[in-house]
Amino acid sequence: MLKPFEPTLPLPPQAPNWDENLRFAYSEVDAFWLTRWTSEAGWEPGRLYEHRGATLELSPAAAVLYYGEGVFEGLKAYRTRKGNIVLFRPQDNARRLRASAARLALPAPSVDMFLEAVTAVARANARWVPAPEKGSFYLRPVLIGSGAILGVAPAPEFLFYVFGCPVGLYMGGDRLIVLSSVHRAAPYGTGAAKAAGNYAGCLRPQKIAKEMGYVDVLYLDAREDRYIEELSGANFFAILYDGTVVTPALGSILPGITRDSILTIAREVFGWIAVERPLSLEEVLSDAVEAFYVGTAAVLSPVTVINHKGKDYPIGDGHPGPRSQMLRQALVEIQLQERPDLWGWVVEVA
Ligand SMILES: Cc1ncc(COP(=O)(O)O)c(C=O)c1O
Repeated sequence: MLKPFEPTLPLPPQAPNWDENLRFAYSEVDAFWLTRWTSEAGWEPGRLYEHRGATLELSPAAAVLYYGEGVFEGLKAYRTRKGNIVLFRPQDNARRLRASAARLALPAPSVDMFLEAVTAVARANARWVPAPEKGSFYLRPVLIGSGAILGVAPAPEFLFYVFGCPVGLYMGGDRLIVLSSVHRAAPYGTGAAKAAGNYAGCLRPQKIAKEMGYVDVLYLDAREDRYIEELSGANFFAILYDGTVVTPALGSILPGITRDSILTIAREVFGWIAVERPLSLEEVLSDAVEAFYVGTAAVLSPVTVINHKGKDYPIGDGHPGPRSQMLRQALVEIQLQERPDLWGWVVEVA
């Protein structure tokens, strides 16, 4: 059931004073945004609906339910210390959603429609955007085949919606494991798209990793089982003995927006050499002095141990490194408007 969102006046009380342990978990807030696409009419104008108690009614034959016709995005609204609400590179999320949709032959919202939706959700839920030291407001744009079909074909109807909720940090552990006999993506597959099915395939390996005491799996390439790809929800970086910052080249990995930001910050803020190229596990285990993973949800988390074939290999001296910390701090300061944003990445919405 969907009820149009009517902002209540006078405004509802302030959101709670977040406790220290705001987790990366779903909660309902005030409003979410939704629009529908049909082959006859294209995209309807979207609007806000009540988030609390909202459910979507779908046919049992909705294409997303069994053919996995769904792609999504993840970005954050941050409250700055001045009290503004800002988004980080939302146009890039809009473009990536369009690229993911194109890979799966789904109709995609325009960049403008995407920006309208994420801005509306951040503004309508402003009271749920935590102060910077408490957390942030995660926005989840979703595009799904909601129409009923039987054969493998694009659905006759799609929904594009954006919901959000306050979150703390995602994952946060520093131990990764390489598992044999499991890959996340194949060459020319869907690894570069933020396709729902990519994540379903990561659940079992992730469960095994966690049971063994590692925060996530470090996936290798499917062709040679040798080159590092990424984690189930974050991109990987290493800093080598000679100071070069290296991240795996694009191809079957998600083109992360944090990944691109870290490459840019390494080069343009710190003047370091930062390259995208094939990066073998062997090279990381022998030559890396620091390693870390990055993503909107994960921000930048150091990696201190990688397990391979049953053996724990420390990275560098086994402690988080100074350059990872410098990159993280610069990224967060840019996101919160506490350091010059030379690239026009930060968009104020309130
Ligand atoms: C598979 C995967 N890789 C990398 C990332 C990091 O991408 P971004 O920095 O755009 O959040 C994500 C998170 O969205 C992801 O799901």
